Amino acid sequence: MAEPLTDIETRADVERLVRAFYERAMSDTMIGYLFTDVAKLDLDEHLPVIASFWETILLGVPAYSGGAFAPHASLNRLSPLRGGHFERWLALWTQTVDELFAGPKAQLAKAHATRVARAFHRRIQGLPVEPGEPQPLTITLHGER
Ligand code: HEM
Ligand code: HEM
Repeated sequence: MAEPLTDIETRADVERLVRAFYERAMSDTMIGYLFTDVAKLDLDEHLPVIASFWETILLGVPAYSGGAFAPHASLNRLSPLRGGHFERWLALWTQTVDELFAGPKAQLAKAHATRVARAFHRRIQGLPVEPGEPQPLTITLHGER
């Protein structure tokens, strides 16, 4: 029988979660290109920042200084982020959390991601769209709407 899953307790746990999520997100057929082709993310630089974000939320360590929305507004200017992208991001996050951890922190990781994703999506929808701006991609919407 498999060992029962433990909860997210340490920075090392957070790093394991975040790394597993990014491996999955970056190779995803629906949102992977946003990380690899649009943002051209350097994962080694990015992972410690993301781990600090989650360490702040889950372990109460004041490691992250805020301003998480701004890079997403920039990303959205390069390639529009739709509701379906956020839904996919959340589905992959939830799946990764549930595969690796179980407990109150794991629940919080899923709940807080849902709140932040909703807030980011709302904020992006409120951003002005420049008329005549070239749209780099046509995106098929999935899910809501
Ligand atoms: C355990 C306590 C919590 C901690 C340590 C925490 C921490 C954070 C951090 C660090 C951010 C990113 C802020 C930024 O980068 O600007 C954030 C964003 C957010 N949090 Fe929390 N949070 C907590 C509880 C909650 C609760 C209880 C709610 C709602 C019921 C909530 C809703 C949100 C939302 C909606 C955002 C996105 C804000 C935006 O960018 O528009 N958080 N939180
Ligand atoms: C459509 C969904 C999303 C996509 C495609 C996406 C993609 C990205 C990319 C490409 C970056 C790096 C930007 C750069 O530095 O060049 C980034 C940064 C970040 N993302 Fe997301 N993201 C999404 C949703 C979320 C959600 C829902 C959260 C939180 C729950 C989140 C948390 C963060 C944080 C904390 C950073 C680092 C911000 C900083 O540098 O301080 N992202 N994201």
